Amino acid sequence: MNISIFGLGYVGCVGAACCARLGHHVIGNDISENRVNLINQGKPTIIETDIEELVRSAHDQGLLEATMDHRYAVHNSELSIIAVGTPISREGHLDLSYIYGVARQIGEALADKDEFHIIAIRSTVLPGTSVKVGEIIEEVSGKVRGEDFTVVSNPEFLREGTAVHDYMNPPFTLIGTDSEYAERKFRELYKDIPGEFIAADIEVAEIMKYVNNTYHGLKIAFTNEVGNICKALGIDSHKVMEIFCKDRQLNLSPYYFKPGFAYGGSCLPKDSKALRTLAHDLYVDVPVINAINPSNERQKKNAVDIIESKGQRRIGILGLSFKSGTDDLRCSPIIDVAEILLGKGYEIRIYDKNVRISQTAGINADFITAKLPHLYEIISDDLDTVCEESDVLVVTNKEKEFAEIPARYPHKCIVDLVRQFTELDYDGNYEGISWENININPAQQKKIVRTMIKAEF
Ligand SMILES: NC(=O)c1ccc[n+]([C@@H]2O[C@H](COP(=O)([O-])OP(=O)(O)OC[C@H]3O[C@@H](n4cnc5c(N)ncnc54)[C@H](O)[C@@H]3O)[C@@H](O)[C@H]2O)c1
Repeated sequence: MNISIFGLGYVGCVGAACCARLGHHVIGNDISENRVNLINQGKPTIIETDIEELVRSAHDQGLLEATMDHRYAVHNSELSIIAVGTPISREGHLDLSYIYGVARQIGEALADKDEFHIIAIRSTVLPGTSVKVGEIIEEVSGKVRGEDFTVVSNPEFLREGTAVHDYMNPPFTLIGTDSEYAERKFRELYKDIPGEFIAADIEVAEIMKYVNNTYHGLKIAFTNEVGNICKALGIDSHKVMEIFCKDRQLNLSPYYFKPGFAYGGSCLPKDSKALRTLAHDLYVDVPVINAINPSNERQKKNAVDIIESKGQRRIGILGLSFKSGTDDLRCSPIIDVAEILLGKGYEIRIYDKNVRISQTAGINADFITAKLPHLYEIISDDLDTVCEESDVLVVTNKEKEFAEIPARYPHKCIVDLVRQFTELDYDGNYEGISWENININPAQQKKIVRTMIKAEF
């Protein structure tokens, strides 16, 4: 393929050399004459393992050249990759001026190009940037996105120091696109790169790099805080984290990585609280570990806010224990939600097939008496009664029997705290606690309205 790459810094230089290594013809473009000259002399613009040899051999084979002329770059390629810098301001706002500058240049060049062109944003940008880039190109070129050109997101995951190796061995290749043609072209471009090829919505691809890097920061900060607690106790933190990493079922695994409701149960709240208190007593400051509980409490409040926003007073809670398959009510987060709603005067009905109130004894009975003394009056073991007598159905666990609810109870409000439904065509109103609206029913509003409608009663 013939490719142009805008920006010949770390990402652009590595991308240019690696694309040429994959057999493609690459034209690099930069506003820096020095960087353009370096590439044209067969030299890299950066210091990086293995890059010198790659750039020299690509240049010698006639597969890599550079220019300051953006028209030449666009006219002689079918795909332009944007790899310019995206610095942030002191307040944390992203400066996209370089991206928009390149968009204007590409737009100018496309004005007198007849062939379809693909623009890929490789720089790290916030969701929505590809829309804006498309608008700029349309405005400058007079061409139409989707007909004459398309804009896709193709985020870069390399680390400096191992950039060439990372480029050639990514964890996966991600393309955010609404164009089948662009997806096909990218499959062709990266056909010799190992790892899964993932095509997703553009905004999913755009946010990915921020999610990855913030999580990496979280891992480091958490690990350092564990290290600081261990040090204060005279424990070898490296041994602790080495063992931690051996748990591939819960620790290093997809487990718990599904946005949803607050955690609860008899262990997580208790043990994380104990570690916080231990750190406090040792005079070790652990801001990340301390922030976990407030975040969990916030998620309960988010559930209350969503339920209240429906403007209905009869609320049916489907599932009371902290997860499916258990009757353990201790620290079940939905109990806190139910308490708040009861306190505000909402009419609550609860269904949980595992909590047989008449048979509740021991720990659970003590817990109910202390936390929810009215439970005996509002809990039912008949799902249909609860659904019929409620306007808002709050699904709090993934019991199979809840899957039928949209079909059996049209026209209600469903508040889904666990992503019980993956795709929905529902006549009523649906809202998930932490994901976009997945209800494809044309009669329902796609956008989730954030303004609060207070129930009047
Ligand atoms: N460096 C990394 O490890 C890394 C990894 C993944 C993603 N990223 C992201 O990739 C993007 C680029 O990062 P970088 O480290 O390569 O930046 P960089 O500063 O090293 O390089 C940017 C290049 O773009 C050039 N440029 C600016 N405006 C231009 C224009 N109008 N036309 C052509 N060239 C222009 C600059 O002269 C410079 O050579 C950023 O969004 C960054 O966040 C960086």
